[in-house]
Amino acid sequence: MANFLTAIILAAGEGTRMNSKFPKVLHFVAGEPMIDYALQNAEVLKPQKIYVVVGARSEEVIRHIGKRAVPVVQKERLGTGHAVQQVVPYLKNLKGDVVILYGDACLTRSQTVQALRQFHGVQDGEAALLSAEVENPFGYGRIVRAEGGTVEKIVEEKDASEDERAVHEVNAGLYIFKASLLVEALKKLKANNAKKEYYLTDTIHYIINKGGKVHALLVSDASEVLGVNDREQLAQAHRVLNLRRISEHQREGVTFLNPETVEIGAEVAIGQDTIVESNVHLLGETVIGESCRIESGSRLQSARLGKGVIIRSSRVSESQLGDDSDAGPNAHIRGGSVLDKKVHVGTNAELKNAHIATGSKVGHFSYVGDAQLGKDVNVGAGCVFANYDGKNKHQSTIGDKVFLGSNSTLVAPVIIGKGAVVGAGSVVTKNVAPGVTVIGVPAQVFRKKK
Ligand code: UD1
Ligand code: CA
Repeated sequence: MANFLTAIILAAGEGTRMNSKFPKVLHFVAGEPMIDYALQNAEVLKPQKIYVVVGARSEEVIRHIGKRAVPVVQKERLGTGHAVQQVVPYLKNLKGDVVILYGDACLTRSQTVQALRQFHGVQDGEAALLSAEVENPFGYGRIVRAEGGTVEKIVEEKDASEDERAVHEVNAGLYIFKASLLVEALKKLKANNAKKEYYLTDTIHYIINKGGKVHALLVSDASEVLGVNDREQLAQAHRVLNLRRISEHQREGVTFLNPETVEIGAEVAIGQDTIVESNVHLLGETVIGESCRIESGSRLQSARLGKGVIIRSSRVSESQLGDDSDAGPNAHIRGGSVLDKKVHVGTNAELKNAHIATGSKVGHFSYVGDAQLGKDVNVGAGCVFANYDGKNKHQSTIGDKVFLGSNSTLVAPVIIGKGAVVGAGSVVTKNVAPGVTVIGVPAQVFRKKK
């Protein structure tokens, strides 16, 4: 299988049925633009080159693909066969194979793409393609098999007879051709069909008429052939990918109380015996330890949780919570915050760029921004770290075992020494020495260390 391989991704369709200002292939499915799935599927085959056929106004697509592939512009959208024709001038070596992928088929697994290549090698026909038996074949090209099981032709919905429409085996839009034969067949394409387009699928008929053989690999999971043409299929694809990811986590020992409602990114890792409730979003590079509980409505974006962490309907982004910490309900932990172990964050508290050492508690309705808190600190309800003076952000440093009474304001920059106490309702404008109690507006020394 070491022979020469070129990959072509078709992505010039205008996505009319999406009714969007953006190119269809840049729409996101389960956290990634559609085209990325096709690119990944092309890349697993390690082709010598990947070409992406893009539409006339596809600067954004070209920018997105960057160095991963060579863009080829199809000025007029005259069909999938016409799209492939645009790449022909680039194909210098006509000895190898060409794999063709559709940019809107984002549910085909990489393993399946590899399996098709192997199948093509074993069958040794002129071309091979992927098919599936689907419950509702409406809108797809139907596979008409010849006696002996090879493919006779592919008939599009609008061109199909009643008998052909009754076929449930459909064309996925993933093919491998012998390059020379593909190029020859493309030259013979005619747009004599209902859509007046040059269909790539018609090359099959040409190959067969010349005595060649085309084999179809029937994939068992019908979801792999879903093409995204409209917003409904976009949602469907999104859901299928999510559920596939969730199944993997389930096999690894994670409980999902209501998997249908969970959004989960491709990079997310979750430890054994963690429970994920309904309507949870786990995104980016989120890593969750063992035996955690992520309660309903939580949204974690690139969060890192240790073991036994409880997140109660809260948001955590770009932040870490150590073992046995808990947050919420409705906490917002963000901006690179790091919580060591057994840290408690209460109802409606917000943390931004805060480092909080083991055993500390940030009570309800508090805001802790740009701060370092030592161990076993108590931040009373409604405390605010006033970190912004209208121009700049300033740091607060709080020593171990400091007690901040409810409704205190710390005007940063400020340092509060170990074991100090701030009375409820104080406004702290100056540093507080270790062990000292301060109170009032502005806070004054009330009691010195004994
Ligand atoms: C196509 C197949 C159909 C198959 C289905 C699978 C043809 C003729 N039909 O139908 O057999 O069952 O996919 O999803 O191939 N494109 C271009 N330039 C064009 C036209 C299309 O680049 O001029 C691209 C589109 O961006 C898309 C892909 O080719 O990524 C498929 O085109 P689309 O119009 O979606 O074809 P379907 O009608 O879905
Ligand atoms: Ca399509």
